Amino acid sequence: MTRAWRLLTPVVLLAAVSLPAPAAVLAQGSLNVYCSVQAEWCQAVANEFQRQTGTRVALTLKGSGETLAQVTAEAANPKGDVWFGGTGDPHLAAAEQNLTVAYKSPNIEKLHEWARRQAEQSGFKTVGIYAGALGFGYNPELLQKKKLAAPTCWKDLVKSDFRDEIQVANPNSSGTAYTAVATIVQIFGEEEAFRYLRQLHRNVNQYTRSGVGPIKAVARGETSVSISFMHDVVTEALAGFPVKAQAPCEGTGYEVGSLSIIKGARNLEGAKRFVDWALTPQAQKLGADSKQFQVPSNREAQLPPQAPRFADIKLINYDFAKYGASAERKRLLERWEREVNSQPK
Ligand code: G6P
Repeated sequence: MTRAWRLLTPVVLLAAVSLPAPAAVLAQGSLNVYCSVQAEWCQAVANEFQRQTGTRVALTLKGSGETLAQVTAEAANPKGDVWFGGTGDPHLAAAEQNLTVAYKSPNIEKLHEWARRQAEQSGFKTVGIYAGALGFGYNPELLQKKKLAAPTCWKDLVKSDFRDEIQVANPNSSGTAYTAVATIVQIFGEEEAFRYLRQLHRNVNQYTRSGVGPIKAVARGETSVSISFMHDVVTEALAGFPVKAQAPCEGTGYEVGSLSIIKGARNLEGAKRFVDWALTPQAQKLGADSKQFQVPSNREAQLPPQAPRFADIKLINYDFAKYGASAERKRLLERWEREVNSQPK
């Protein structure tokens, strides 16, 4: 499943953000932003940064795993300047492989500890801009029609009742789905986790390309249940769709959505300015303004009242150093491909 915005060509996106800058703002060149959050937020960030600085922003919208693949493929001839958003693990993998550059923004000290830790652990090659907890989304109307009880635990998703009722993204392209695989491994231990993932495979009707694909399918009534970030469920509920979010009873993982400067950035000064700006409460408010309800990383940024409360969710102590390491990521993805995705249902 592709996001509708993937159909927009970069040319269209560039045109869409080419608003006239205030006369006082001198043109500051252009910035190529690879963006791995939902399109509305990417667009708002591009428009506002351009309005404030006069820097023309060109957006490329792709999931976290896909962006890591693109940045890797372009390493010899980098085309992007910054990578905004998407789950933290691929940003850490990029940092480890020297695909991104260290930058210690003066605004890092204004961030929550979890966002600063993301920066410190990567040698300042990435930094946290938001956090979000993983859970399930479901369509209560569809479940009622099918006489199915709403899932409350990871273990519920592998029951035979849910045969072909579940959607989750492909962990190669989607950071959401990689977070799910790493979470299940951390909760159950690796061998048990792969047994679980093989059972889950029988209940999955589609592995989508993007992390938000499954909850959008739940919202449209195409599938009953999704594995999704809980804030993405809130976005669909507020848009009027019959969806509910559930935090898994066994505990769950979370993401530290991140921001990195790409090594070889053609506009390094602009990229640094962008990072400084993206860490401010004013810039972070653009998330909630775009109906995206992650927890912002700046301590002074307001927590959107609609954001799922971390205090109400049983969070695991997600090991970002381990699951953000590129060798571990590659190993788990290869194992998933071999033992899960390529298996018959
Ligand atoms: C959505 C969520 C973000 C998340 C992103 C990952 O946009 O709102 O919090 O970081 O998905 O996208 P992906 O396609 O890589 O799973």
